[in-house]
Amino acid sequence: MNEMEKQLNLSERLKSGTEQQHRQLDKRIMQSQPFADLNSYQGFLRMQLRLHAAAESLYKANFYANLLPGLVFRSRLKAVIADCHDLKIDTDLQQQDLQQATTINITNPYYGLGWLYTVEGSTMGAAMLLKQVKKCLQLSETFGARHMAAHDDGRVIHWREFKTLLDKLDLTELQQQQALDGAVAAFDYTINSVEVCMPEVVAST
Ligand code: HEM
Repeated sequence: MNEMEKQLNLSERLKSGTEQQHRQLDKRIMQSQPFADLNSYQGFLRMQLRLHAAAESLYKANFYANLLPGLVFRSRLKAVIADCHDLKIDTDLQQQDLQQATTINITNPYYGLGWLYTVEGSTMGAAMLLKQVKKCLQLSETFGARHMAAHDDGRVIHWREFKTLLDKLDLTELQQQQALDGAVAAFDYTINSVEVCMPEVVAST
């Protein structure tokens, strides 16, 4: 860790350590034109299903009960599954995605913190994505885009609360590095899931 990184709190460090991946992911998602039609959006939902299913055990883990109060209520897996149902995604494909997610087995709780950072942070981008989904596909927080709904307290407040909890944790340098490794791994997993579920649309010349 360099001197500048030492000045950062955990959430800032995770943001800075994953910024390049986040840009790559945004760009790649948009290249698949996820809101062009319902078929493309199904691929986007399958990517979300893989991501949220892979992280689900963390939301229920006892380890975080005191460290991150209310974590279990933040899980959006049920909402993603309901969206998949709304969009009538083939159940075999859904099973494949859930099965694939079981290949992620997070045993280090600090690494898990990084995973949670990445999954929780994705609620922020969802604000913009939800607007597009409504406009292009006429879906909503009650049908097809449930997992993108803002929290009752407000999306930004809810996210800031999570970051405050992260930043209050008293972690060693090694534990912080493990959290960063987890955040990076969650982005990598998502980028791979995009490759599998969301074919790139090549512009015709
Ligand atoms: C095309 C898709 C996406 C777009 C356009 C997008 C856009 C954004 C935007 C604009 C923010 C900043 C919000 C703010 O600070 O007010 C944000 C934050 C974030 N997004 Fe995304 N996002 C996308 C997909 C994702 C996905 C799939 C993930 C997770 C794998 C993700 C993870 C994050 C994280 C962790 C943050 C928080 C960064 C921080 O620490 O402030 N995003 N996103």
